[in-house]
Amino acid sequence: MSDTEPTKKAYTLASGDKMPAIGLGTWQSGKNEVSEAVKHALSVGYRYIDTALAYGNEHEVGEGIRASGVPREQIWVTTKLDNPWHKRVAEGIDASLKNLGLEYVDLYLMHWPCSTRPDDLKKHYDDWNFIDTWREMQKLVGTGKVRNIGVSNFGIRNLEKLLNDPSCKIKPAVNQIELHPNNPSPKLVAYCKEKGIHVTGYSCLGSTNSPLYKDKTLLSIAESKGKTPQQILLHWGIRNGWDVIPKSVNKDRISGNFDIDGWSLTEDEMQKLSNLPDRFKVCGDDWLPIKVFFGDDE
Ligand SMILES: NC(=O)c1ccc[n+]([C@@H]2O[C@H](COP(=O)([O-])OP(=O)(O)OC[C@H]3O[C@@H](n4cnc5c(N)ncnc54)[C@H](OP(=O)(O)O)[C@@H]3O)[C@@H](O)[C@H]2O)c1
Repeated sequence: MSDTEPTKKAYTLASGDKMPAIGLGTWQSGKNEVSEAVKHALSVGYRYIDTALAYGNEHEVGEGIRASGVPREQIWVTTKLDNPWHKRVAEGIDASLKNLGLEYVDLYLMHWPCSTRPDDLKKHYDDWNFIDTWREMQKLVGTGKVRNIGVSNFGIRNLEKLLNDPSCKIKPAVNQIELHPNNPSPKLVAYCKEKGIHVTGYSCLGSTNSPLYKDKTLLSIAESKGKTPQQILLHWGIRNGWDVIPKSVNKDRISGNFDIDGWSLTEDEMQKLSNLPDRFKVCGDDWLPIKVFFGDDE
């Protein structure tokens, strides 16, 4: 990680590619608002957009990128393989690239370790699992369509399974997981670090109707520093060594979330935020046909 201000920081992946420390999230960003959000984010300095086939807005994200006038090669774009596409990885990336209107993405993630049947979203394939999916994703490297491949929502148990499988020739470059002070996942973060897998923190503000905005520890740190709770949360994540992808479709909030240079949190403030007594995830796995989280970072 370069030793600069948060918005200038970048994490070097195993491929040597440099991934910015802050990007714009787009889950639940409506088709009618996400192009403007992306364009605005790029105009105030963001150089990283996180999207997914499942968000249904890749086309509009691509429009925002083009409307910004920022050269493609200056922007980091992450998208994700949707669960019902696990048996159709080659088609999945082609669909995303077509939607985005791009020739390649910087990072292609397996969205969830769950191969859902497209004909019945309540069912998992019996004859296919995430190791099969990863075998197919590895074939994308070298096609020019993806610069890096990675996973998302993998706990230690599933990462172990994947990394120990003989068919795993390419280590995931990134594991994108839920990370905020109510779900700091220290064991999983340490595991990824030990294995050389970079971590992206999603729902880094606590997601929609964030429970964190009532947290007294966070609010008092924000007040004493004269910063918004969101700015504090983004600093906390970046200081911990992961990149953050706050979602907003509001121009002022997009700008404010990027206005995080020129100050820092003390070690004591970092520790207080890392040790909040309340621990819970805001994104569960109960909507999936199989369990993917097994508790305690597993
Ligand atoms: N891999 C996965 O499975 C996965 C799962 C979840 C999320 N993600 C990615 O991570 C991104 C971020 O996570 P998230 O969308 O769950 O939640 P988040 O970024 O933690 O929070 C987004 C919420 O905070 C609001 N917000 C943003 N900035 C604010 C500010 N300065 N003041 C007040 N409210 C603010 C947004 O509303 P407004 O838009 O109205 O500002 C929205 O309701 C997603 O968009 C997606 O790209 C990935």
